[in-house]
Parts: sequence; structure tokens; C-alpha cells
Amino acid sequence: MALYVMGDFHLSLSTDKPMDVFGDAWAGHEKKIAANWPLCAGDTIVINGDISWAMDLNQAAADFEFLQKLPGRKILLKGNHDYWWTTMAKLRQFAAAYPSIDFLFNNSYETEECLICGARGWLTESRQEQDAKISKREQGRLRRSLDSRADADKPTYVFLHYPPIFGAERNDDILEVLKEYGIRRCYYGHLHGSQAHRIACTGAFEGIQMYLTACDYLGFEPLRVD
Ligand SMILES: [Fe+2]
Repeated sequence: MALYVMGDFHLSLSTDKPMDVFGDAWAGHEKKIAANWPLCAGDTIVINGDISWAMDLNQAAADFEFLQKLPGRKILLKGNHDYWWTTMAKLRQFAAAYPSIDFLFNNSYETEECLICGARGWLTESRQEQDAKISKREQGRLRRSLDSRADADKPTYVFLHYPPIFGAERNDDILEVLKEYGIRRCYYGHLHGSQAHRIACTGAFEGIQMYLTACDYLGFEPLRVD
């Protein structure tokens, strides 16, 4: 009953979006993901954003099929490239054909060991009014996710797509919630390439353990959470 995390699968099984333009490591990356897959039936993985390049659910079907065939339960969180992500009602209807797939959006999940909460998050270098609005909305979604926990006695891990801190940039809306709810571990994705990976925040940060889980950072092998 292990829990794993890895984000940024960037699947494109029915769209023409080869990822090797982002570096040799990405060549045939979905084959690497399948070959390295450590989950058994009964295990769970959080896929924290940028799941598929599809523009709509029809296009996403081949990518969902790929995920469905991999063992274990998959909990999907929205990233900045998930244009196929629509309303929860439509997503749930679509995913009825893929019973191993669930969505983390204003809700939470429980395993034997822990509670799973999260939101997409937001991080930007500009200070536009629009950014502040998006950041507050994501803060609200993270709060709703945390407030949806039935029993907060187990450790709660937070999963985001955007890093709450990157270089000199920090999202205080998100960090404030992490601290308010006493979250000790935060997993995020979004950052690709060695330059971004070098300055990514990993390890202890203001009392929270930060983990970067973008799949190129993890060598396309999911990280065990507990
Ligand atoms: Fe990504």
C-alpha cells in the first residue's frame, strides 16, 4: 500500500508533441516511465500536474489508457499545460472508463498512512493584479482541499504543480497555508532542465521539507513518499 509521486508526464500519445526537443533525456520518456514503474496493485501515485499535452478529453483518451494500464491508483492534479482539464463533473464522467484514475481538486484522499491534499498553486515573477488574483484562488483551493480531510490525525502531505518557492520568488499565499495547517512535506513539479533543477528548493525550507518531483528531475522513476 505504498504512496508514490511523480509529475510532468507530458504524455502525447495522440498528439504530435515529441518531448525530446526539451533534451535527450526526454526521448521515449513514456517508455521509461512504464519501464521504471514501481507500483503494485493497491499502491497509489500522485501525478502532480502536466499530465497530458491533449487539448481536450477526446485527445486525452490515449494518455488515460496508458495510465490505466499501469498498476496502482493514480491521483491527478492539474498543471499549467493540462488544457484538457474541464469541470469535475465532466472529468469524472470521462474517467469512469479509467477506474484507476482520480482527481485532486478541492478535495483530499486518504491512504493507510497519510492524507493527500493539494492544488495547482501559482508562482510568477511579475507582480500583476491578475497574478495576485490567481494566487489567492489557488490558496483557496488548497485550503478547501485541507479542510476536506475527514480526520487530520494522520500526517498530511501537500502536492502542488508550481513550486511555492523558486530562486528569489516565493508564493506567500501558499506558504502561509502550509504553515497554518502544520504541513511538514510539500511535493511540487513544473521545473524542467538542469538549470532550473540546480536552483530548485529541495530539503528543509522554513520548517517544511520540499521535494521536486518533475519526472526529468527524478529520472522518470516515481519517488516513494512513505
Ligand atoms: Fe511540466
